[in-house]
Amino acid sequence: MKILVTGGAGFIGSNLVERLVHEGHDVRILDNFSTGDRRNLRLVAAHVELVEGDLRSYERVARAVRDCEIVFHQGAMPSVPRSVQDPLTSSEIDIGGTLNVLLAARDGGTRRIIFASSSSVYGDAPGFPRLETQATSPVAPYAVSKLAAEQYCRVAHLVYGLETVCLRYFNVFGRRQDPFSQYSAVIPTFIVTMRHGLSPTIYGDGTQSRDFTHVDDIVTANLLAMAAPGIGGAIFNIACGRQVSLNELVAELTRCSARASTPTTSIRGPETSSTRSPMYRARRASWAFAQPSASARA
Ligand SMILES: NC(=O)c1ccc[n+]([C@@H]2O[C@H](COP(=O)([O-])OP(=O)(O)OC[C@H]3O[C@@H](n4cnc5c(N)ncnc54)[C@H](O)[C@@H]3O)[C@@H](O)[C@H]2O)c1
Repeated sequence: MKILVTGGAGFIGSNLVERLVHEGHDVRILDNFSTGDRRNLRLVAAHVELVEGDLRSYERVARAVRDCEIVFHQGAMPSVPRSVQDPLTSSEIDIGGTLNVLLAARDGGTRRIIFASSSSVYGDAPGFPRLETQATSPVAPYAVSKLAAEQYCRVAHLVYGLETVCLRYFNVFGRRQDPFSQYSAVIPTFIVTMRHGLSPTIYGDGTQSRDFTHVDDIVTANLLAMAAPGIGGAIFNIACGRQVSLNELVAELTRCSARASTPTTSIRGPETSSTRSPMYRARRASWAFAQPSASARA
């Protein structure tokens, strides 16, 4: 099957591309390499078609979408701090870029678009653990953009009949996650810091927890979303279903590295206190990952 992966040179996108190529699909990538890296594609470079371009250009997106039956839309400016610094660019890429993908898919006859959304859309809405039926209440421009893009996906399903599926990822980690960006996620940042014999910095008291989800499970969820019948317009939480506090994370990394490390604490705000989802909707659709999942093993 002919498939487009936007943001295919990024952390999650490149892991998804590898699996798709391995399964024999004909894969095209659209990326502008702003946070992605060509080295992420070295195992598959000979087997994929690369369209270098920006999601903000409808022409570029339409060129990339052409003839593709499925689009995995992973491309985004995926950082909360960057979105706080530069909400306009965050909105242009994450909302405007998504709208370009949806319109190009409509015009080009794409059947299904699987959109990489985020648990951040829940923000400070009441309710724990997180269920898809709960209210959303973003607390950062990034999350506002993801929520707006989700709404465009829903409307594209209603108005244009596109099969849109939104996957709300919970705190993804795994191979090829960039530990050196100033906006890096907590696991690679802590690992690199501790490898250098330094103390990781925790914002707050460390009791805030995250539902860390391995990238292999995210890839599996995307493939299930591609294949499942009758889920156009649906939203799914994609998580591990377990919560781990940042203090527990440091303790576990210390145990693995056999190097004592006391985190320093710092204040920054606002922090999401905890994230976890039992993924009821995915499980009801028989999407339960083979147990133990990659997230639980890692
Ligand atoms: N990593 C997580 O924990 C997490 C959690 C929830 C949702 N997500 C979402 O998953 C998706 C992938 O995230 P990631 O962690 O792999 O990030 P990433 O930065 O590694 O990947 C994003 C990719 O999009 C590309 N890109 C950015 N702006 C672009 C533009 N204007 N035009 C074309 N390409 C562009 C980048 O070059 C990069 O290859 C994003 O949509 C992100 O919002 C990630």
